Amino acid sequence: MMKIGIIGSGNIGGTLGKHWAKAGHEVLFSSRHPEELNSLVHDAGKNAKAVSVAEAFEAKADAYLLAVPFKEVDQIAEVFAGEYGQKVVIDATNPYPDRDGEIAQEVRDSNRNATEYTAMKFSTALTSKAFNTIHAEHLKKRAFRDTDRIAVPYAAQDEKSREVTRQLIEDIGMDAVYVGDLSATKAMEVDQGVYGVSTNKSELSEKLNI
Ligand SMILES: NC(=O)c1ccc[n+]([C@@H]2O[C@H](COP(=O)([O-])OP(=O)(O)OC[C@H]3O[C@@H](n4cnc5c(N)ncnc54)[C@H](OP(=O)(O)O)[C@@H]3O)[C@@H](O)[C@H]2O)c1
Repeated sequence: MMKIGIIGSGNIGGTLGKHWAKAGHEVLFSSRHPEELNSLVHDAGKNAKAVSVAEAFEAKADAYLLAVPFKEVDQIAEVFAGEYGQKVVIDATNPYPDRDGEIAQEVRDSNRNATEYTAMKFSTALTSKAFNTIHAEHLKKRAFRDTDRIAVPYAAQDEKSREVTRQLIEDIGMDAVYVGDLSATKAMEVDQGVYGVSTNKSELSEKLNI
């Protein structure tokens, strides 16, 4: 059982938090408005509660899911710098210039992969990338399957973030496909072949050439 802090409890964070609570983990949902997360907490059941982002970091969870609009990454990383030393941060964000403005365009135009940017901002964390390629609707409806399982690509900065992320993908009844370290995450970005694609492990591996 892990304690998991959800930073951004919308389509992706809300759904994943419910899945992890169902799988037996302790889940702390957070957003700028935790008082609006009551029905989510109710649906997630006894393993979940809603807290502020500050409280989620103070709770020293084993892992954090970052599921906010990309433009919020700087601010969240800055305000809580130092609170999450050696904690695993799973980055599910994607930079969309239309929604996220200049910073998203800058990151897209740079040589750095988007999650390398997140890892640089969350400098004391152990960052991984996962759940950014999956359609929110599929995340919701295709978890906990015995057959016809879908596969989720992930990348990780080190052994610990790799193991925790793999475990948390498998705990929701999906297969985990390791892409490489954060320098390999170009293959998981918005304009790439596996983005938005839900398929099984062997097809996903083929698409990723691994
Ligand atoms: N939707 C998809 O199919 C999909 C798939 C894969 C990845 N993603 C990526 O995942 C991220 C989240 O997408 P989503 O569709 O889940 O978005 P969403 O439904 O709009 O949810 C965003 C959540 O973040 C919270 N939030 C926003 N700013 C925050 C801040 N500064 N501090 C704390 N919480 C904050 C929001 O609540 P408050 O406004 O109340 O704070 C909300 O709970 C995005 O980067 C997106 O590109 C989305």
